[in-house]
Amino acid sequence: MKFLITAGPTREPIDPVRYISNRSSGKMGYSIAETALEAGHDVILISGPVNIDPPPHAKFVSVSTSDEMFDAVHQHADKCDICVLCAAVADYKPAAVSPTKIKKRGERISLELIRTRDILDSLGHRQDRRFLVVGFAAETNDLEQNAMQKLRDKNCDLMIANDVSSANSGMESDANELTVLFQNGERQKISRAPKKNIARELVKIFQILQQKRLTKKM
Ligand code: CTP
Repeated sequence: MKFLITAGPTREPIDPVRYISNRSSGKMGYSIAETALEAGHDVILISGPVNIDPPPHAKFVSVSTSDEMFDAVHQHADKCDICVLCAAVADYKPAAVSPTKIKKRGERISLELIRTRDILDSLGHRQDRRFLVVGFAAETNDLEQNAMQKLRDKNCDLMIANDVSSANSGMESDANELTVLFQNGERQKISRAPKKNIARELVKIFQILQQKRLTKKM
């Protein structure tokens, strides 16, 4: 199988020295990429800025902004069987990027933000798509309900619900616990384990889904 995987945060520039970003470490996406490669699959890893070396046998595409990630994903998706979008893409970016460093003035400052494009939504709704689409839902509350809503809204084949409210699971952590939600309403829990073990479970689930698709059971 050919995997496209996004990982890490995006950075949305404010001026030449500042940006808006988030706490995503990229560990989950990189673990899935490594595991898929170990299982003999091809991997295109499209990553925002993280402190992890890319797996040596992945095709690696380094991006910074949500717009760069959007373009890279759409450029490579058609060559793939499955797109797994783990990246924590910024939902908003500055309305304008100052070409010079913004100087300190006054006691308050406001920054106008505008919506970024939703990469997962745009892939899920591609009329001609032949690849599977998997999203990650980062939630602090009403985990399964919010994730199921995202699965439907973004027309994904799978949504992986990730509770990011606790310090020892989710973002930045080496471990995670997830719930995999399927289009038919089924759900499968993956209990707390190192991200590498979680990645093995996920890659198995992706392989089964692809098999079902090939044998036209879905
Ligand atoms: N995502 C994306 N492009 C965006 C925002 C999110 O592709 N501009 C993808 C993420 O990669 C993830 C999924 O959408 O696979 C869900 O991301 P999440 O941050 O949980 O949800 P949002 O749709 O951004 O909604 P909210 O922040 O309101 O929970």
